[in-house]
Amino acid sequence: MIVGFIVGFFLAVLFIHSSMPERDDYVLYYRYGQDVGTHDHVNENTSIAEKLYSCILCWIMTNPANHQTKARHVKRTWGKRCNKLIFMSSAKDEELDAVALPIGEGLDNLWGKTKEAFEYIYEHHMNDADWFLKADDDTYMIVENLRYMLYPYNPNTPVYFGCKFKPHVKQGYMSGGAGYVLSREAVRRFVVEAIPNPKLCKKENTGEEDTQIGECLENVKVLAGDSRDANGRGRFFPFVPEHHLIPSFMDKEFWYWEYIYYKTDEVGSFKFKL
Ligand SMILES: *[C@@H]1O[C@H](CO)[C@@H](O)[C@H](O)[C@H]1NC(C)=O
Repeated sequence: MIVGFIVGFFLAVLFIHSSMPERDDYVLYYRYGQDVGTHDHVNENTSIAEKLYSCILCWIMTNPANHQTKARHVKRTWGKRCNKLIFMSSAKDEELDAVALPIGEGLDNLWGKTKEAFEYIYEHHMNDADWFLKADDDTYMIVENLRYMLYPYNPNTPVYFGCKFKPHVKQGYMSGGAGYVLSREAVRRFVVEAIPNPKLCKKENTGEEDTQIGECLENVKVLAGDSRDANGRGRFFPFVPEHHLIPSFMDKEFWYWEYIYYKTDEVGSFKFKL
């Protein structure tokens, strides 16, 4: 029996290691900051994925200090599954092919940078995609699931999706950290109608990027969409996975529970403090 145990144990270890390539990706990237390189998925059946195909442009908010430590890992993992990937920074970068927007870095410029980025996309890439995703350089997106979510929608509808928060904007707004995706018509309204009009959209570069864009989009009648699945489960999350996956990880007093637009059911009895 002991021999059986030992053999079984090693077989299990072998099995776990050989069957979790995505997890290795994730652990190396987030825990150890190691260079994970690139890898291909051989013999992958992509027939359903091809049916759900929609053209998605992803643009990543980054800055020169994060090019090597964060942005390059986006490019080597989920970012390459976007149809078009653009890094918005304030300095050029050969490996990333980053766009150097004419704006300073730091929180005080985040809103200005977001406007500049969408104006750049409108000018250069408006016909390259149906959907335009904004994500941070520490966001992880499962692009296949994003395609599945967007499949029923027409990109000519003025709509955007993300993790919807309740305060500040009447129809709600999308959390910046979780990433959000605009239809082509939403981008057009934002750039052509909202940004040039200081009555519809804040002219200064300061302020929180996510609430500001939420207000601008509401003012040009872009709908804050419902990104939940058919069972009412969320599909965009602002924090690291364990904070969302472990029940009650986030204290009841934590602002998140006040902010989320849709009531979230919780199960389990674990109790941790953030
Ligand atoms: C790929 O998946 C589809 C849908 O599940 C299936 O119909 C098809 O036969 C599969 N193709 C291969 C080569 O396995």
